[in-house]
Amino acid sequence: MRKLIDKLYVKQELEPDELKELLIAEENQRKGLLQEEQISEYLFEKARQVRHEHYGNKVFTRGLIELSNYCKNDCYYCGIRRSNTGVARYRLNKEDILNCCQSGYDLGFRTFVLQGGEDSHYNDNMMADIIYTIKSNFPDCAVTLSLGEKEYDSYLLYFHAGADRYLLRHETSNPQHYRKLHPEEMSLTHRKKCLEQLKEIGYQVGCGIMVGSPFQTVDNLVEDLLYIKEFQPHMVGIGPFIPHHETPFAAEKGGTAEQTLFLLGLSRLMLPKVLLPATTALGTINPKGRELGILAGANVVMPNLSPVSVRKDYELYDNKICTGDEAAECRQCLDLRMKSIDYEIVVERGDFIK
Ligand code: 5AD
Ligand code: FES
Repeated sequence: MRKLIDKLYVKQELEPDELKELLIAEENQRKGLLQEEQISEYLFEKARQVRHEHYGNKVFTRGLIELSNYCKNDCYYCGIRRSNTGVARYRLNKEDILNCCQSGYDLGFRTFVLQGGEDSHYNDNMMADIIYTIKSNFPDCAVTLSLGEKEYDSYLLYFHAGADRYLLRHETSNPQHYRKLHPEEMSLTHRKKCLEQLKEIGYQVGCGIMVGSPFQTVDNLVEDLLYIKEFQPHMVGIGPFIPHHETPFAAEKGGTAEQTLFLLGLSRLMLPKVLLPATTALGTINPKGRELGILAGANVVMPNLSPVSVRKDYELYDNKICTGDEAAECRQCLDLRMKSIDYEIVVERGDFIK
């Protein structure tokens, strides 16, 4: 297995069969079936080496602002899906959002991520105005959008208003698997088309997956890695699937921290310069998840800047961490956590390096 990891380290790619072999070895290791060597540790060592070449021990931070938990979609895994009538729905207005940015700025955030369900309340002009105002008030900051699937013209308008980056996880690159996670009206083809358009417009673009989502196979993960390699995103979001009690997947098993970390390590080796967050979902299933994510090759953390009053309502999955903490507490907590593993959160935009 070490040979395959060495090959990936040198070539930044592997044959599908080789990726599959590694993923199966990780699975066996997790099940206690693999006696010989700790392949994960070896992978993480290499991944850290690569991340240190490009980013040293810097950790970039992004302030996540959860605009709205209204959503027109009905993804089977997601806690804020439209069919979940148990959610107290909320929307932040422009002033709320700018207040979040101001407190974030004071805490050293230089990227703001505007994330929300697909909520048509914010029409294109409203969104463009919000983006433009953030960029005018905080000219040294980047704005990342995570607002789902939109028309090309909307993406273009937001870009011209000043948005820098866009996150849109593809969730799975296998059409049959995609179908099992989403209702009929959504399609992988459209999602991929959006990703292509975002890239063409000039955004720094992030795709990504949930690890251990229902029906996911090792072959699906191989396909995901190949798609990610081919698409060459600037960012990749990889977190464990965590069941939400009011969704059709309430009784499904969640993803494991071990497998998530393994995929982070592989992603770092395949895309050496990628911006790779140690996700909140990873921090939710393991108390040291974010630290372990950084040690597996991640270089970004995304604490929450949303007003504490709405945080518990943006519940994509159960037991999400930090829903009761002020932004300042998370900032300080993450500072300490990163220092404890000899990494350092920096006050920078943290752009993709060409
Ligand atoms: N568990 C983990 N991640 C989830 N997401 C949505 N629902 C869940 C869940 N139950 C992720 C999706 C989406 C991102 C914003 O959150 O991958 O793209
Ligand atoms: Fe929020 Fe630790 S990051 S409290």
